[in-house]
Amino acid sequence: MSVVDELSGVAAQRVPDMDIPGFRARHDPERRSRLRRRQAVCLPKIHHRDNPVNTKSLTERIEGRFARITVIGQGYVGLPLAIEFASAGFAVTGLDTDRRRVAALNDGRSPIPDVSDATLKALRTKGHYGASSDFEALHESDVVIICVPTPLGKSKDPDISLVMAAAEEVAARMHVGQLVILESTTYPGTTQELLLPLLSGRVGKVGEAFFLAFSPERIDPANATFKVRDIPKVVGGITPECSRLTALMYSQIVKEVMQVSSPKVAEMSKLYENVFRNVNIALANEFALMCRNLGVDTREVIEAAATKPFGFMAFHPGPGVGGHCIGIDSAYLAWKMKLDGYDARFIRLAQEINQGMPACVVGLVAEALNQRSRSLSGANILALGVAYKRGVGDIRESPALEVIEQLLQKGAKVSYADPHVPVLTVAGTSLRAIEVDAAAVRAADCVLILTDHKEFDYRDVVADARLVVDTRSATWGIPVGAGEVIRL
Ligand SMILES: NC(=O)c1ccc[n+]([C@@H]2O[C@H](COP(=O)([O-])OP(=O)(O)OC[C@H]3O[C@@H](n4cnc5c(N)ncnc54)[C@H](O)[C@@H]3O)[C@@H](O)[C@H]2O)c1
Repeated sequence: MSVVDELSGVAAQRVPDMDIPGFRARHDPERRSRLRRRQAVCLPKIHHRDNPVNTKSLTERIEGRFARITVIGQGYVGLPLAIEFASAGFAVTGLDTDRRRVAALNDGRSPIPDVSDATLKALRTKGHYGASSDFEALHESDVVIICVPTPLGKSKDPDISLVMAAAEEVAARMHVGQLVILESTTYPGTTQELLLPLLSGRVGKVGEAFFLAFSPERIDPANATFKVRDIPKVVGGITPECSRLTALMYSQIVKEVMQVSSPKVAEMSKLYENVFRNVNIALANEFALMCRNLGVDTREVIEAAATKPFGFMAFHPGPGVGGHCIGIDSAYLAWKMKLDGYDARFIRLAQEINQGMPACVVGLVAEALNQRSRSLSGANILALGVAYKRGVGDIRESPALEVIEQLLQKGAKVSYADPHVPVLTVAGTSLRAIEVDAAAVRAADCVLILTDHKEFDYRDVVADARLVVDTRSATWGIPVGAGEVIRL
């Protein structure tokens, strides 16, 4: 049993180290009561069976669902997670530095497809969820989950400054008994080598006075089949007690939790998942290029191979990889290995193939126009879809942007349609999404399908277009009319 489980809540409120920077300011009674008044506006009230809170151990507070949870970062990952805990009866605060996002959330407007406005409003009304930009909320939190972005910097190296910024806010307000979980995807070693030293020494020993773990988020935005609760959680704590509490926490909202022996294993397992996708998408892309060379239909080849009931998993080609995960996470691992003098060869090759796809797509368009005695320069290209994948408005790292940039550089006149992305700026050129109708399709020298959103009617597109270049196999199985359809 840990120190915390033995401590009553009253003891848990006592912070032993009076020399902690900011301790006096934070514990000044007048300041705290001012803070409470302010928090009352934005934080959910605690709703619990009987009488809650700090008179119980963390285990009891989690099991009784009256542990207070703060999720830092309310984006594609943090918001659905916060909503899942709030739906399970916990009082959840969604912390985000983006004040406009916070205002929208508190107004019941969800910025992402996986959380509906109705769900958000209902949880707000019940007092189970509230958003805030005020990190003082961390003082009241039993469990803190960090879900902030982990992008690449200008030099294409990992940029974990947002994780560290969030962790510093946590460290400055730590109290005995707090459980801190990192969910942001990052390179192996981040939790143990960076977060642990930052949090250690504030309130006592890890595994006794506070708890730290890594548990990767595996959500697939806009996937209607697998939502947060359907996807098993992997948990790696610094100590067995850290793992136990983290697993207990997630078992309140997901069906299956797998504990692994360390945060590094959990960090590496997430990277393996995404490198696996990156490498297999690269293989599908290379296969598509080879199939074109051989004059066979790529999709037909994949469908045939996929009839094998074991040992094969279908991946599909496309204009490249995008989003906040696949390419970036691979770069995180390759960077970390390079520090140790190891060349991650599969990752290097996959990145090379996937990053070369936009140029291949532009080449396909140019070649098809050329065969119709038309040059790319001056041609009207209608791009269908710019988001990195179907069903979302996320354009981070979207290969469509690279394709459009290259088309513009070669003198093409590009318009685009995307029901999820109303405006777009590519290399300084501002574009506004158009409606896809027969006139727009007929006016285009080439309709270029870059994201296979279900809102597009591909039958109409194929019927009306003079030329379609389809990088997503969205037109597969649709009879071709008077125009021509070229698939990757
Ligand atoms: N998007 C995905 O499909 C996905 C899936 C699995 C894992 N991940 C990982 O999850 C993490 C978060 O990704 P995301 O897609 O949710 O990002 P996002 O951009 O959708 O959301 C991140 C949110 O964090 C906020 N934020 C940034 N810095 C902050 C700070 N210091 N304090 C508080 N809030 C801050 C931003 O304002 C934003 O609202 C990343 O590490 C990503 O790799 C993403």
